[in-house]
Amino acid sequence: MKGVILHGGAGTRLRPLTFSGPKQLIPVANKPISQYVLEDLRSIGVIDVAIVLGETFPELVQQYYGDGSRFRVRISYVHQGKPLGIAHAIYLCRDIVQDDSFIVYLGDNLLQKGVKKYFEKFLVNDYDCMILLKEVDDPSRFGVAEFDDKGSLVKLVEKPKVPPSRFALAGVYFFKPVVFEIIKGLKPSWRGELEITDAIQTMLEKGYKVGYSFVDGWWLDTGKKDDILYANLLILDEFGVREIKGELIDSKAEGRVSVGEGSKIINSNIRGPAAIGSNCIIQDSFIGPYTSIGDNARVFNSSIECSIVLEGACIDHVDRLEESLVGRNARIVKNRASNAVRLHIGDYSEIEL
Ligand code: DAU
Repeated sequence: MKGVILHGGAGTRLRPLTFSGPKQLIPVANKPISQYVLEDLRSIGVIDVAIVLGETFPELVQQYYGDGSRFRVRISYVHQGKPLGIAHAIYLCRDIVQDDSFIVYLGDNLLQKGVKKYFEKFLVNDYDCMILLKEVDDPSRFGVAEFDDKGSLVKLVEKPKVPPSRFALAGVYFFKPVVFEIIKGLKPSWRGELEITDAIQTMLEKGYKVGYSFVDGWWLDTGKKDDILYANLLILDEFGVREIKGELIDSKAEGRVSVGEGSKIINSNIRGPAAIGSNCIIQDSFIGPYTSIGDNARVFNSSIECSIVLEGACIDHVDRLEESLVGRNARIVKNRASNAVRLHIGDYSEIEL
């Protein structure tokens, strides 16, 4: 069994963070989203993994994952460039996958309980393809499944205006290599992409054995800022641990709080679940719950809740920051001399005052 991780796409909904890196590398609980994906694949014994790279800083992905040995896998890279569709990205992996079955995992999707259970079902039933479905409130944002009166899966539609059900396709797909033949015959959709839903629909029509499973636990597609913050909350809630490597000086760390090496927490209160990276300084502040602070960040006289602060950022005299995503090396400093707001912000930034 091989693995394919999709790491391309444009990431426009996550600007300005995607001006300096691909969305799948944005850390949640101080770990890139796509690393959870890679670790999930590794946990079921998938060693050979192809990562499909897009146009947004592909070199950063290669730098981070390297040849995969750090993660006990073997990684090959495939350059897709423009996002011409999920099926297009998969087709580019045919020489790597060869005659094996494989799992495609969208690099910005997270599953609470991982893929193990579904992987076993795919193998036991000898499916040509298996998809995962999850009931959602807003199916129009996703690929959606349609069932007939007997409850059989009959159709898949991509982002329908009038959804035939509330069951969205989650971003994990199991395939036998026959899918490459099917993709070869596809035509681009109205949005100019080779759609994976069209490929699976064709498999259904041609009588291939297409199975499905309902996702047990939460599933997240982290395409927007609020999804990322929600993922941070759920991941800290589920996997947050207490591990204090740095120094607590006149400070309290309540519950599941991790503090990385070299960090100093001075006269502050950290409420878990929360994750503080390495070499941070947190002084006279209140952090948490559900907050991740990246390496080398500095926080002074501030309170921060339900937020992600990335590497090297500085927050000074801000009371209080909530549900915020602060980019690398950003500075938020309260002007104590006047009430005026002075900004120096990047394109597509959002500030709520
Ligand atoms: O998240 C689940 C949904 O993912 C499914 O319900 C939909 O059926 C499926 O089309 C897809 O919809 P999205 O609109 O969320 O796809 P998005 O363009 O965000 O791409 C999903 C991931 O795949 C993302 O990590 C970027 C990557 N990608 C996407 C395209 C179109 C590529 O690597 N190459 C591509 O050409």
